[in-house]
Amino acid sequence: MIKKSKKFQTPYLTNLILKLAPKIGAKVLVESEWKIAGQIIYPNGVVRSLRMYSLDLNHIASADIARDKDFAKFFMKKKGYPIAEGKTFFEKNWAKIVKSDRTIISADKYAKMLGYPVVVKPNSKSQGSGVCVAFNKKELNSAILEVFKGDKVAIVERYLPGHDYRVVVLDGEIISAYERIPLSIKGDGKSSILSLLKQKQKYFILSKRDTRLNFNDRRIQLKLKKAGLTLKSILPKNLELFLLDNANLSTGGDSIDVTKTIHNNFKKIAVRLTKDMGLRIAGVDIMVTEGDITKNPENCKYYIIEINAAPGLDHYVTTGEVQKKKVEAMYLKVLKALGKKD
Ligand SMILES: Nc1ncnc2c1ncn2[C@@H]1O[C@H](COP(=O)(O)OP(=O)(O)O)[C@@H](O)[C@H]1O
Ligand SMILES: [Mg+2]
Repeated sequence: MIKKSKKFQTPYLTNLILKLAPKIGAKVLVESEWKIAGQIIYPNGVVRSLRMYSLDLNHIASADIARDKDFAKFFMKKKGYPIAEGKTFFEKNWAKIVKSDRTIISADKYAKMLGYPVVVKPNSKSQGSGVCVAFNKKELNSAILEVFKGDKVAIVERYLPGHDYRVVVLDGEIISAYERIPLSIKGDGKSSILSLLKQKQKYFILSKRDTRLNFNDRRIQLKLKKAGLTLKSILPKNLELFLLDNANLSTGGDSIDVTKTIHNNFKKIAVRLTKDMGLRIAGVDIMVTEGDITKNPENCKYYIIEINAAPGLDHYVTTGEVQKKKVEAMYLKVLKALGKKD
């Protein structure tokens, strides 16, 4: 039997809709066990749904394509957006079904062609799950096998280190833009890596971020091992250690708000891309490998890493009162627009 769990907090979007709906006379019905599914019932009889990070804003097939990184990349490339070069590889039973010889066996040849290190990630997961950098065949194969535990399709992609940004677009406007930095800790010469991670977790809780760090993440263990460290090692004072290759806030990344400083042409790219993918709301992940987001993109080198049709704003709103107010105002607008009859 599945136990009812108090572990799961009501998601940010559910709480926000519960708070805003009465302002426009709408009722909200929330599924009571997990609190991630809800319905908004408007005074005119219109019913709209919400589920975790999704509202009835994006059309379902466009959102599905965005969720499938390989499909999304096809359309983005076709429309002239720079994307990370990559290829999909199939889990062996799935490869038989889809009649493809692109299995783990041919991945190393492709990675060599791209040039190690390469990025390995699941095709259809989110929040940074399973994303890691592989420096050789052994690491590549173990990363792909790890991906296959939760996805039939793995992507092997060119590694593009740079400034990593999330730009959230809603109906042609930028809600927020921030740079993301992967999970890191800073040594104090006394504490073990595990206790520094626990301190970080405590800090997240204090700042109302519901990020749960997985201290036993295989990727963290691997990074530590490569550096000759374990969770018990004491980190020298002021030494900063990055523990993951992905910068998602959901895996403990830090953010720097750039909403005010993002160059207008980068804003235009994110807005146009969202529209070009048939979406109204999207989180656009941009990696700027030369320059940064405050500069004119014409003078930078940048790549669209992915487009997310259900961006979580929960981490962003914990960064400050201004951010929280802005998101609430935007969603009030959305809520009003959603209540119109089709
Ligand atoms: N090709 C790449 N080169 C460098 N870093 C990458 C690359 N692809 C992904 N990453 C890192 O991993 C993070 C998560 O990857 P992403 O494709 O956005 O998947 P998810 O849906 O899990 O967020 C990115 O925000 C970035 O930090
Ligand atoms: Mg992403």
